Amino acid sequence: MSELRVLTGITTSGTPHLGNYVGAVRPAVRASLAPGVESFYFLADYHALIKVGEPERIQQSTLEIAATWLAAGLDPERVTFYRQSDIPEIPELTWLLTCVTGKGLLNRAHAYKASVDKNTAAGNDADADVTAGLFMYPVLMAADILMFKAHQVPVGRDQIQHIEMARDIAQSFNHLYGEQLVLPEALIEASVATLPGLDGRKMSKSYDNTIALFAPREHLRKQIAGIVTDSRAPGEAKSCEGSALFDIYQAFASEAETAALRQAFADGIGWGDAKQMLFERIDSEVAPMRDSYLAFMGNPGQLEDILQAGAAKARRLATPFMASLRQSVGLRKLGSQNAARSAKPVKAALPGLKQYREKDGLFYFKLVDPRGRLLLQSLSFASPREAAQAIAQLQTNGAAALKALAGQLQAVEGISQSEVLEALALLA
Ligand code: TRP
Repeated sequence: MSELRVLTGITTSGTPHLGNYVGAVRPAVRASLAPGVESFYFLADYHALIKVGEPERIQQSTLEIAATWLAAGLDPERVTFYRQSDIPEIPELTWLLTCVTGKGLLNRAHAYKASVDKNTAAGNDADADVTAGLFMYPVLMAADILMFKAHQVPVGRDQIQHIEMARDIAQSFNHLYGEQLVLPEALIEASVATLPGLDGRKMSKSYDNTIALFAPREHLRKQIAGIVTDSRAPGEAKSCEGSALFDIYQAFASEAETAALRQAFADGIGWGDAKQMLFERIDSEVAPMRDSYLAFMGNPGQLEDILQAGAAKARRLATPFMASLRQSVGLRKLGSQNAARSAKPVKAALPGLKQYREKDGLFYFKLVDPRGRLLLQSLSFASPREAAQAIAQLQTNGAAALKALAGQLQAVEGISQSEVLEALALLA
């Protein structure tokens, strides 16, 4: 079976700040180093067009974000790192998906609904200033994900609904045209911190409370000096609870360093000294990356080459997949009544064993033939590990495993056991 595929996109509409680094870039770069995982990271510049109508800003943000990810240690040899708009198959798939997406589903998208609610509250037309791009946002995002058969999509909580929509859209497509799209799952990392900003609220561009990730050293110092604190004087004990300064420090420090700052708070460290500590701690992590970031920023041609190589790598998957999707929906050369059926396959198509999670939160798998016909369906498993063990058992023990697992499997009408065994043998 193939490796676990993890994919995520970054909208190219701003300048990376410390919150992006702690909440997204750093965990993603770490995760990309895990064995057995195939990672896809891309610059979602088509998505940026929905929010940003300034061409210079789109280009500048794309440059800054690409430089940030590479400076933070993303290895383009190891992962697939590309720019969305370099993959023409993505808008192509978007259209196929658009045609199986209920308009009602999109009506329920949080971002669209928020705009409608705002308009309604202001007494305006419900769709005033709402572009079709905003409305279609979830379909483009589904195409991003489904194109590369991603199993897991690490995102913030605000994006969970979009992943659920991608699943719904994939299911509609598979139902109509056969099992071809992999149903993705949102991956919400409980351990990933949301960083407070200068004013103590979540660090976010929309609150204008961010600290730039790669500001020059002196600028970083100034920004850190602007973090809100209470009015306790040096010598008075400070509370770690609710202190933005403490929380930001913790996101960069080891446990021992955090404990030391906690002690210093109790001992009444002055805010000025605490800010100095925070500044030095952040700068020591950021400074080496800053050098590499500046080197990339000074050499956009090199970045462009890296993105082009990434696009070529991504298209090696996207181009043939899109070709087969076109076939399956009936966008075919005339005279080749069903080219998919009549053409000699270059490589024997394999059955698929897919593990997935249902809305009930439980884990399932199913076996489908190369055309997407269901051969075997599991009942629920409490954990992905149990489902994976059952799959492994089926692949190695064939008929014996079918018997042993009978209580956890559901026969499919019209499918014989020998068909199932034949498919399993091909996968073993
Ligand atoms: N909508 C995502 C965000 O704003 C960015 C994004 C676009 C994305 N396409 C994606 C994330 C596909 C994950 C997968 O954060």
